[in-house]
Amino acid sequence: VKKLQAPRGTLDVLPQDARRRLDIIAMAGVVLGRAGYEPIETPVFEDTQVFARGVGESTDIVQKEMFTFEDKAGRSLTLRPEATAGICRAYIEHGMHKLPQPVKVWYAGPFFRHEAPQAGRFRQFTQIDAEAIGSDDPSLDAELILLHAEIIEHAGAGPARLRLSSLGSRETRAEYLEELKQYLRAREDELSQEVRERIDQNPLRAFDADHSGTQAVMRDAPLLLDRLAADDTAHFAEVRALLDAEGVEYEIDPTLVRGLDYYTRTVWEFESDRLGAQAALGGGGRYDGLIEELGGPPTPGVGFAAGIERMLLAAGEQPSVPDARVFVAVAKPNAARHAFGLARRLRSAGMRVELEQAGRSLKGQLRQADRIGAQATVIFGDAIEVKDMQSGEQREAADADHVLELVREAAGS
Ligand code: HAM
Repeated sequence: VKKLQAPRGTLDVLPQDARRRLDIIAMAGVVLGRAGYEPIETPVFEDTQVFARGVGESTDIVQKEMFTFEDKAGRSLTLRPEATAGICRAYIEHGMHKLPQPVKVWYAGPFFRHEAPQAGRFRQFTQIDAEAIGSDDPSLDAELILLHAEIIEHAGAGPARLRLSSLGSRETRAEYLEELKQYLRAREDELSQEVRERIDQNPLRAFDADHSGTQAVMRDAPLLLDRLAADDTAHFAEVRALLDAEGVEYEIDPTLVRGLDYYTRTVWEFESDRLGAQAALGGGGRYDGLIEELGGPPTPGVGFAAGIERMLLAAGEQPSVPDARVFVAVAKPNAARHAFGLARRLRSAGMRVELEQAGRSLKGQLRQADRIGAQATVIFGDAIEVKDMQSGEQREAADADHVLELVREAAGS
């Protein structure tokens, strides 16, 4: 028979890693909760149109990377490649514009993109996503950047470089891209062949070129940041002033492009030197036209997503800290039922208790108690004894209450 394996690009998260993930998500909930972000959950699959219209028909995500399928009634559904479009769909569907604005929500869960798997890139991955919808106040952009940085730091994934830019409005961006294309065409013979061939599809690519001729051309190239409308420039200046006042370091990168079409004004990405080619720990930005694009009233919004797998990779191996543990050993076959009842009682008292459930000899059970890092072992034989695993001292307990007392002493709590 064929060996069954997890599908390409997916991960089995085994207990030790699973614990770290839950810890990171719980931490993010605390950090975001302090700033008024409440949890939300949306479906793992949506009407394909949510992403086609939300993320944008021309993006790699929509053109190449979506897991799209038909349900039995022939409706086109897609496993969500990201959270923002679905959350905005829910905001519209539930008339959340009637709530006090901004509506602040966060979410952690699985996302799906059919990309070529490599280090830090998976087909199923996990994001922590936060959104503030219903206000274009620049303090929200700055707040989310600071929260994003705090989550990365607490996840142990720092230090991270913050790249920041503003894209202005969609119209400004379209005009700018035309201007850039014309500029590149006018100096076409100085460019590398690769850049020359992609002037129409991706003129921004030229900013990242290694080719020295291209680099010389790009030194004088027009920049989107210099073409922003006055109110977009003022908005960006305020975001930066708030970050400066908080002592946040960032690099203005006028060539920062994000892989989603909905962005307007502020965009950012956190990168780590500890990751390889897939260096982005997370990214975000403002999307003031998205809700209207999805059929809702004109509504501004801003948010980010942090990649959990990438943060864990950047954080590296961390030693696992054993909890205070109690092992309940059975030295006599007819003691098993009492042992079972006692384990339950100790658990109700808030202790982390494991019980012999694999038919080991007493010697094997004591070895198992060591292996799990037990601080106390309760041995059920003719009498009930509690062994302090550190000192080796073994004392007889008079009754169940006494067991609890001796276990507490041995576990140092
Ligand atoms: P994104 O930049 O596409 O943004 O994804 C955010 C983060 O998710 C990435 O920086 C990366 O850490 C992680 N990520 C993305 N794709 C993969 C993958 N194939 N494997 C592993 N990790 C991955 C968004 O998704 C936007 N929705 C963020 C946002 C929220 N903008 C506004 N609000």
